[in-house]
Amino acid sequence: MKKRIIVTGGTGYIGSHTAVELINEGYEVILIDNLYNSEKEVTGRIAEITGTTPELEIFDLCDREKLQDCFGRHRNIDAIIHFAAYKAVGESVNKPLKYYRNNLVSLMNLLDSMRSFDIPGLVFSSSCTVYGQPEKLPVTEDAPIQPAVSPYGNTKQIGEEIIRDTVFAEEKISAISLRYFNPIGAHPSALIGELPRGIPENLVPYITQTAYGLRDELKVYGNDYDTPDGSCIRDYLHVVDLAKAHVIAVERLIGKRNKKRYEVFNLGTGRGVSVLEAIHAFEKATGIKLRYRITGRRPGDIEKIWADPGLANRELGWKALSTLEECMRTAWEWEKNIRKK
Ligand code: WQD
Repeated sequence: MKKRIIVTGGTGYIGSHTAVELINEGYEVILIDNLYNSEKEVTGRIAEITGTTPELEIFDLCDREKLQDCFGRHRNIDAIIHFAAYKAVGESVNKPLKYYRNNLVSLMNLLDSMRSFDIPGLVFSSSCTVYGQPEKLPVTEDAPIQPAVSPYGNTKQIGEEIIRDTVFAEEKISAISLRYFNPIGAHPSALIGELPRGIPENLVPYITQTAYGLRDELKVYGNDYDTPDGSCIRDYLHVVDLAKAHVIAVERLIGKRNKKRYEVFNLGTGRGVSVLEAIHAFEKATGIKLRYRITGRRPGDIEKIWADPGLANRELGWKALSTLEECMRTAWEWEKNIRKK
């Protein structure tokens, strides 16, 4: 019998790419999404890629009754991958309660339902933001967790703690938190990708929208950091590589190959890339000259961070394989494809 996986936030950016990889590996996938930041048509695009239309349940995970009803109808779930969350760092500073309520109530409801419906495994979408500005680079999973710089980041820290404590108390539940660095790019089919509403906050959507002519120019937030070219450094990884790590995490939970019942892994390439290098990689990958200007620093930005992905490489047998150029090329193909529609 096919293993059944629930993907919350399943029509979103990382959720949809993960659904594709799960289906390709023979899993039955049920998506849950409230469509706050995505569209239900994504299921049709997943079907175009995989030949299978995943079932989509449209409701808000903060609604306990709807969640119980959903799990009552879909029995024998092997694991949940929990992506659904608000993620705009800037907005979270102005609307903290919106973020705490949504991101934490939904997680607690899910954990409660896992207990009532005997669902044994959870994969949680966490973030490198939990490290703040690390003292040692590349950053390993045992680096100290720093006070969060935004309510959004705090929901990821608290989320990890809630899961760790629940797993400790509930023998039947195991969980894996995946700390993503900076996911970028899109599926090579250009049928799914990142679709920010309004003005993008993140670098790569801003780059592709500028290249397309939707934005006048990219602002590079600072060139006076203590880095080789003065711009900030991040660890950008392809969203398909990231999606594949979730399939491996699910296999590990289902196959009970996790030595501990709660584990944490960094997911990154291990390579730090500056903002200016990212721009040049985009130009090289697409042949487009990007209009950009150096401006002041963005408040709250970390100067430099990149992953030590060694633990995921060794324990999960996972590695980020795509080059930065591939990331940029697929992001651009996706941008062009959505504008055609
Ligand atoms: C990358 C770099 C900017 C836009 C992200 C998520 C956050 C968390 C961690 C998941 C920075 C620079 C950006 C622009 C620029 N993810 N930049 N001009 O800051 O690493 O945060 O990863 O939990 O939610 O937002 O990513 O893409 O915003 O910025 O110069 O117009 O690009 O200063 O150095 P960041 P980002």
